[in-house]
Amino acid sequence: MVDKIKIENLSCYYNKKCVLDSLDLNVVENEILGVIGPANSGKTTFLRTINRMNDFDVTYSRKGNVYLDGDDIFDIDAENLRRRVGTLFAMPIPLPMSIYDNITYAPKRLGLVAKKSDLDGMVERVLKYASLWDEVKDRLDASAMKMSGGQQQRLCIARVLAINPEVILFDEPCSGLDPISTAKVEELMIELKEKYTIVLVTNNVKQASRVSDRTAFFLMGKLIEVDKTGKLFVSPKEKETEDYITGRFG
Ligand SMILES: Nc1ncnc2c1ncn2[C@@H]1O[C@H](COP(=O)(O)OP(=O)(O)OP(=O)(O)O)[C@@H](O)[C@H]1O
Ligand SMILES: [Mg+2]
Repeated sequence: MVDKIKIENLSCYYNKKCVLDSLDLNVVENEILGVIGPANSGKTTFLRTINRMNDFDVTYSRKGNVYLDGDDIFDIDAENLRRRVGTLFAMPIPLPMSIYDNITYAPKRLGLVAKKSDLDGMVERVLKYASLWDEVKDRLDASAMKMSGGQQQRLCIARVLAINPEVILFDEPCSGLDPISTAKVEELMIELKEKYTIVLVTNNVKQASRVSDRTAFFLMGKLIEVDKTGKLFVSPKEKETEDYITGRFG
């Protein structure tokens, strides 16, 4: 088992108030690491730190180390880092353009693919991967804004895949989706881990138990415990974890 991401003694602050406290955690290559915990436990801050989305927030500060394949992520060029670490948020936000252009926008801008025939092939490949191809292949020129919420979410996954990342961070990707769309996204995540390393932040404890290989429980900025999902849900070590997964608080 190879560590894809290694987090050492990471603490994060907004306006000097600590919201993530002395976190030590690793993400193993080709696993789905689930991160669960009540509101304000620091889950999103954790993701925003790993892809350096908080770089320009002047109220934010941090200390500690994060390594991607052994490289200090704060030494890597941020744009390069975000190409290697793709992120998907709760609310899918397609660009106000066609389905095709949504997918090709970033790869073109980054100069990853230039030839039209290569772009066509890439669009087909990522849409198939995101289980969306059959639904949209006849209307790639239609506006992405006219798709359903579940389709928009899968389109946003296809967009992330188009930049060919190594790690994908999901922040509550199914909130707002109906059970059928949720099941599709969950199946997709399980397929994706063959090729990618995945961190799945979710408010939905059952979702973590269904799809993640290991699960980490955050509470008030602290990692309470992390373990194999089967173990954490059946015999958690900590009382707080047990209370949370059985719905006794939160
Ligand atoms: N940009 C910000 N400026 C100031 N405080 C922030 C900012 N973002 C988050 N916080 C605070 O940091 C703490 C952790 O927030 P975070 O968004 O990481 O929690 P979370 O676990 O993702 O919660 P949720 O389940 O509601 O999404 C909270 O107290 C929150 O109010
Ligand atoms: Mg959050």
